[in-house]
Amino acid sequence: MTGILAGKSALVTGGASGIGRATALAMAREGARVAVADMTEASAAATVELIIAAGGQAIALAGDVAKEADVATLVARSVAAFGRLDCAFNNAGISPRDVGPAGQRTHEMSRASFDDMLAVNLTGVFLCMKYEIAQMLAQGGGSIVNTASIAGLVGLPSASNYVASKHGVVGITKTAAMEYASDKIRVNCVNPGYIKTPMTDPTMAERYDALMTKVPMSRLGLPEEIAEAVVWMLSDKASFMTGASQIIDGGYYAA
Ligand SMILES: NC(=O)c1ccc[n+]([C@@H]2O[C@H](COP(=O)([O-])OP(=O)(O)OC[C@H]3O[C@@H](n4cnc5c(N)ncnc54)[C@H](O)[C@@H]3O)[C@@H](O)[C@H]2O)c1
Repeated sequence: MTGILAGKSALVTGGASGIGRATALAMAREGARVAVADMTEASAAATVELIIAAGGQAIALAGDVAKEADVATLVARSVAAFGRLDCAFNNAGISPRDVGPAGQRTHEMSRASFDDMLAVNLTGVFLCMKYEIAQMLAQGGGSIVNTASIAGLVGLPSASNYVASKHGVVGITKTAAMEYASDKIRVNCVNPGYIKTPMTDPTMAERYDALMTKVPMSRLGLPEEIAEAVVWMLSDKASFMTGASQIIDGGYYAA
């Protein structure tokens, strides 16, 4: 296969849906062999089927990124399947609705809701980087992109837990970029605005018009519009890019 990821081996978490699925497909289109990871093997396998139908190579893996043993296994199985790990997209994530009632301000939010959010969105990214970087050090380099959010750069009412997790992702991305720059490992994050995925469907059903007044392009982004940037950031085309927070938000942050 030709493409900007030709010959590369990749891992994507949250690859069964939304941004992760679109990026797994784009990675494969650009020539990568892709390990698609999600909570269940059946959900990841649906993405793998799409990749194989398009002529690409992929395997499905199951694991919870909040569990260290699962993450260690995901990375080990990716390497066992493809021999190395060149590109990693740490993208699995949840929204405030997954850990508590919608619409809670900070004083209303439970400790459990805050902890459960950080366990997936922040600790999950940390654990993935920990095991991926160990492999990349052993093989002599690699490239990582973490999924943050515009919520990693600004506050969002009723989302203290989510905002904390995504600000944390931006911070550990910058730190790892500094730590491993001399080891030929680049670490960046992507900061999507409002994107049309199953995660945002319930919010958009309630507040689409109000939220779109904050977006200069007046529309939701598509998962594919994040995927194209992530694939480029993971590729050798982005060889001088590390520690960056790449905003892709239809102008939200600029407004
Ligand atoms: N959709 C948006 O508007 C938007 C904006 C900014 C950032 N993001 C971020 O993008 C990422 C992908 O979100 P999406 O919109 O594609 O949502 P999505 O719900 O379509 O996909 C998320 C995937 O992550 C998986 N996942 C959740 N918890 C997991 C865990 N503990 N271990 C393994 N997999 C797990 C889910 O099963 C799902 O397949 C998330 O990190 C999200 O915070 C989304």
